Amino acid sequence: MKDTGEVEGRMHLHNNPYLPYPMIIRKIISENAVNDIKTFELVFKNKKDEGKFTYMPGQFAEVSIWGAGEAPIGIASSPTQKGYLQFTVKKMGVVTSALHNSNEGDEVGIRGPYGNWFPMDLLEESNVYIIGGGFAFTTLRSLTNYILHPDNRDRFEDLVVIYGARDPGELIYKYELKEWSENENLDLVVTVDKGDENWTGREGYVPTIVKEEQLSPENAVAVVCGPPIMIKFTFPVLLEAGFSPDRILNSLEMRMKCGIGKCGRCNIGSKYVCKDGPIFTYAQLQEMPKEY
Ligand SMILES: Cc1cc2nc3c(=O)[nH]c(=O)nc-3n(C[C@H](O)[C@H](O)[C@H](O)COP(=O)(O)OP(=O)(O)OC[C@H]3O[C@@H](n4cnc5c(N)ncnc54)[C@H](O)[C@@H]3O)c2cc1C
Ligand code: FES
Repeated sequence: MKDTGEVEGRMHLHNNPYLPYPMIIRKIISENAVNDIKTFELVFKNKKDEGKFTYMPGQFAEVSIWGAGEAPIGIASSPTQKGYLQFTVKKMGVVTSALHNSNEGDEVGIRGPYGNWFPMDLLEESNVYIIGGGFAFTTLRSLTNYILHPDNRDRFEDLVVIYGARDPGELIYKYELKEWSENENLDLVVTVDKGDENWTGREGYVPTIVKEEQLSPENAVAVVCGPPIMIKFTFPVLLEAGFSPDRILNSLEMRMKCGIGKCGRCNIGSKYVCKDGPIFTYAQLQEMPKEY
């Protein structure tokens, strides 16, 4: 085990696995123009819980709001960012609306971390191409910040991040995209489907941009997260470029309930997305029934 935040065995040691850690909302950042995507920065109410919650990029947690319920949300911060957790949440229904109506200083619950994480044994010593669209970029943002950390950067080869949104107002983490664009440790390509009068950057759908970038499959791994339509058209571009199916990764967002392999809500064939996933290679996805 390396001293980089990488740890084994993520299940926390509460006797009752459904018992959440109490957390306080320290900061809320509105991420998009229509204000239906917000990043919540949470700190542990009980400092001693902090050391028990060790996670890796790609994992998720069940976020609970008293009186509303809980929802699985990918962890948007990186384990290299100590002392807090971040979740970027789109207002969808009961739980996410209740979270959006919360204020800084309010208490919420977190159980986890759950699921597998981006396989570092595959990514290390490889060129890493991170390809994201929309607000599914959250765990890719975690992975990017993890790789960029000075303790980790040398273990990876080239880092390319391609990130797209519908329009400039929908791009999340704008403050960080600006920093990354000035960082020589990665190549960042930001694109929007359609720009506005102030937009001077790239325009085009993510799969088109991936094709234009002519990513070489040599010693490379592609990590893809985004809306189903983006995924559907990005996979063929990567396969055509020569990427091997076991070097294309994708994170599934299935309906989940327990998050710990008990309720059967998330299974696809014999796989439980909450436990065996949410991250699968393209090769694994081909072996699973097309229920996702
Ligand atoms: C592993 C994982 C990671 C996730 N990460 C994030 C994240 O980082 N940020 C984020 O905002 N969301 C994320 N989600 C999705 C999030 O869990 C759902 O949007 C959430 O459960 C909605 O809860 P709710 O109570 O607000 O909505 P509900 O009241 O349960 O539903 C509201 C509406 O949204 C639809 N809906 C609910 N869940 C989903 C879903 N998973 N996919 C498509 N439609 C759905 C329902 O059909 C309904 O129309 C993730 C899901 C998984 C499984
Ligand atoms: S969410 Fe309950 S088994 Fe996966």
